[in-house]
Formats: sequence, structure tokens, C-alpha cells
Amino acid sequence: MHSRFWLIIALVFSSLLAFGQNSGKDAEGHQWWQHAVFYEIYPRSFADSNNDGIGDLNGIASKLDYLKELGIDAIWISPCFPSPQVDFGYDVSDYEDIDPMYGTLADFDKLAAAAKERGIHIILDFVVNHTSDQHKWFLASKSSRTNEYRNWYIWRDGRGPNQPPNNWTSEFGGSAWKFDPPTNQYYYHFFYAGQPDLNWRNPKVESAMFDVTRWWYKRGVSGFRLDAVDTLFEDPALKDNPQDSEKNALGDFKQERIYNQKLPEVHDALRGLRKVADEYDAVLIGETWTNDIAELNKYYGESNNELQLPMDFLFTKVDKLSPAEFRKQIAAVNAASGWPTFVISNHDIERSYDRYGDGHHNDEIAKLMGALYLTLRGTPIMYYGEEIGMKTTPPTRKEEVKDPVGRVGWPKEKGRDGERTPMQWDESANAGFSAAKPWLPVPPTYKTHNVADESKDPNSVLSFYKSVLKLRHTNPALMEGNYVPVNESDQSVLSYLRTYRDQTVLIALNMTGFMQKISLSKSGFKSAASLLATSKSAANGDTVTLEPFGIYIAQLAK
Ligand code: NOJ
Ligand code: CA
Repeated sequence: MHSRFWLIIALVFSSLLAFGQNSGKDAEGHQWWQHAVFYEIYPRSFADSNNDGIGDLNGIASKLDYLKELGIDAIWISPCFPSPQVDFGYDVSDYEDIDPMYGTLADFDKLAAAAKERGIHIILDFVVNHTSDQHKWFLASKSSRTNEYRNWYIWRDGRGPNQPPNNWTSEFGGSAWKFDPPTNQYYYHFFYAGQPDLNWRNPKVESAMFDVTRWWYKRGVSGFRLDAVDTLFEDPALKDNPQDSEKNALGDFKQERIYNQKLPEVHDALRGLRKVADEYDAVLIGETWTNDIAELNKYYGESNNELQLPMDFLFTKVDKLSPAEFRKQIAAVNAASGWPTFVISNHDIERSYDRYGDGHHNDEIAKLMGALYLTLRGTPIMYYGEEIGMKTTPPTRKEEVKDPVGRVGWPKEKGRDGERTPMQWDESANAGFSAAKPWLPVPPTYKTHNVADESKDPNSVLSFYKSVLKLRHTNPALMEGNYVPVNESDQSVLSYLRTYRDQTVLIALNMTGFMQKISLSKSGFKSAASLLATSKSAANGDTVTLEPFGIYIAQLAK
């Protein structure tokens, strides 16, 4: 009778709280993106419709029903614009088109329409810091010192023969300056040499970039993930960064990037981008590598007028199953000045499956991590393949490496290919990703971890993700509730409540390989009705028993 009652309540609430596309706020003043589950698609690796070994937009369109059924409300597509692909799309040569390897603008429009039909929002990746060296703006800029686009990028004389303007190093190795013989000057590139930095101090750059966002908003895009926002501005005097005597994995002396990262002017640019976004009711997600919550707060903006969803990567820095560490990060971001955004994997970092897996219980731990970040107060951004327990599979030989970072850093730094392998759809050749040889090898785990098989298995990681996402979308406390930590000194089980009006949901996560018990009485509750739990985790009166890495999510009563 209990579960039936709660189901009816949940359905009533979820219809009250439901959103159409951009239909404003719910009863609690929350906007669609605050309850949405976002899903990052690395387009090269998701689904290949024309069998050339590279994923594409029609491939994504063919999987929308899968995404809908999984419980996804918005997809963020990593760059799919024309690009020489030196950094696999993060080197854009035209912001207002689609690369032929991914399809056409007409394909994009079809995808957008099909997504809209299913209530799925599309978020594009806006590479704001740099363009490709093949972008028409850069080609004009490098053509002569007097070209009208010269000042769209950062050009300087060297300090002397063969000496770059200062000591800044590139994130991808070597000097951040490349000499250009025809005009006898250096240009600045924080990333690869094929990714020259735009000069955001030039108002023409700013306004051209704002216009790019307008162009896509008018085409139906619901927002952007802004790439590398930390690096938009540089010290105009180009002062040397303080440098260590120790080298990094790429062989450069470590630097404190005080003159070319996180400059305060970044926030002027973000406020400008937000102003345009607000005209279209759009959402801005930021790639924000912050060191602490004070820095994260800056990205929300003093009056919440910058990024709605700056990604909280501090969460990904907790690299072991430590209730105390997670508790600390969750509490900190809940006390921040904006809405939390949780990420556990993406195309630049080791997959969570390996970061937290112990080698024996990886699937259980993958479910545990899913239960954690999909039940918190805040917006989760999933990464494709996380829902089936995809494993980071780095190249084993230097000749196989595709990522420029791995080619420079081999063998210490193997690059990011390992977390970008093709999506594992089924057990057939190439994991059903493509009939041709995929651009990156399919990991051997596709035989055990793939969508088709896991869909049939009620105990799979995928089935668990579907269940937890369903609960998240229908349970009012999970949608709207506050985050309340409980049993805060417990070193083994991470427990918290989500409370909304007279409802309380408990989430208890056993982060150890041993059975654990927790007591509800300390928080004043007498009984629990399970909403979702692993098979051997259950409550008896006010005591909850959790199997190793067990999960227990329940409605509490006093
Ligand atoms: C961050 C992106 O996530 C990464 O993949 C890329 O290499 C750099 N920015 C440069 O655009
Ligand atoms: Ca293709």
C-alpha cells in the first residue's frame, strides 16, 4: 500500500513539476536545466551512420530513443564544426557550419527537430578561447601585420633571435608561442599550435563571438558548454610566469599560470555571453577547473549573471571511495552561490569506472557512483558509456596514439584516447558502433558491457542507471529537496537525505567491500520504505543493512 501511495504522489508531483522546452520555472522557481540530466556525446565515438569509422550526427539521431528511454533531457555534443581535427574538433575553422565528417547543417536541423520531439535539449560546445589556425579570421590575421584581422589574435615580437616573447608554456607541451616567418612575429596558443588564442580584448572579437551564439540559438540550440573559459585573457604586458625547477609529464618546467589563466577580465566576457543567452532563455555550462568553491562562486557571477552551470570538477578530484571526502565536496558546493553541477567523467579524464573501481567490484561501484551523483541536489552531466560501465582503455603503443597530448607525453602521459573509445552498443563486430574499422579501437570489454546485453539484464549497470534516473525524474524530494547530510562521522557509509515539504528520502551508499549497518533513529526516523536498493540491502525497523558497495534509497517515515 505504501509504495502505491508514493507512486501516485510522485506522478501527481512530477506532472506539476514537469517542463516543456524552455517553458519557464516550476513551483519552486527552478528552471528546466536544474532538473535536467545532461549527457555528453563525443560525436566521433557515439554512433557511425555512414560506416566510415567516425561517429556522426545521423548516428546520434538514430540513438535518441535510447537516450530518451535512459532518462536524458539534454545532450551536449562536443565540437562537430568544421575542423582540421588536430584536437579532434576543439580546433574550429568555422563556427557556423557542421564538419562534413559529421554531416551537414540539414542533418543538424533534423537532429534538432527529432530531439525536440522527444523533449531533449541540444547543447553545443563553444570553443571560445581559440580557433583553428585554418579559420578564415586567422588566415587573414597571419597574412600581414596590417591586415584588419591582425589584432584578432595575439601577435608579438620575440625577445631576441629564436626567443619567444615570454616563458609561457602550452598545455599541450612546449612554448605557447609559434614563430611565423612571413611576418616575423610569434602568435600565442595556450593549447596546440593549430589552436591560436583569440584576442578577447578586441571588441570585434567579442561581438563576433556573441553573434555565433545568437546564430545557433536561432537554430534551436538550448545553450552552450563553454570550452576552456579560464584561459580567455592574458596579461597585456606578457610578464613571465613563476616557474618551478621540476618538470611536468610533457617535459616542460611547471609554471604557476598567474599571467595567462583565470584573469578577472574572464568574467566580463562571461557576463556578455550570459546577456545574450538570457535573450534566448539559454543555459551556459562552463569548463571551470576551479581550485575551491570561492573560485567556483566567481563563475556563477556576483549576481548570478555569468554561468548557470559551472562544472564542479572538485568532485572528480576525489579519486577514492571516501565518504568523508565526498561529504566535504557535496556540502561545499551546496553552500555555493549557485546551483550545483556534478560531473564524474568526461572526454579529458579517466573514466569514473576505473577511477573508483577496485578491479573486482567495478560494476557494483559504477552503480554506487551513479546512485551518488544522480540523487544529489544539482544537475548531473553524464558522459556517454558511463551508464554501461565503459572502461578507460588507453593505447598500448605510441604509434596507435591519436591525441596530440599522448604523442608529446608518451609514455608518461598517454593522452585521452582511452576515455574516447567507441560506444559499445552490442556484441557484434566493432561493438555495433560502425561496420568499418573505428577511428579508435573498441575495448575488449564490449563483449561483457554493451547496451543490447545490459538492457536484458535487470542487474546490469545500465538497468540500474535507468532505475535511478526514473526515480530522480519522478520523486519530488529528489527533484526539489534540500540536501541534508546524516551520520557525518561514518567512515564507511555515505548517507544523506533529500527533504521536500513533508517528504524525506534517504540515500545510503556503502563505500566499502564489507557489510555495514546504519541507524535511522539518530535522525529521528522509525521506518523506511525502499525505493531502490541493491539486492541484499534492506531496512529492519530503524536499522539499514548494506551489502558490500550496497545502495539503499528509501522514503522515510517518523
Ligand atoms: C578543453 C577540452 O575539453 C579539451 O578536450 C580540449 O583539448 C581543450 N579544451 C582545448 O580546446
Ligand atoms: Ca561516419
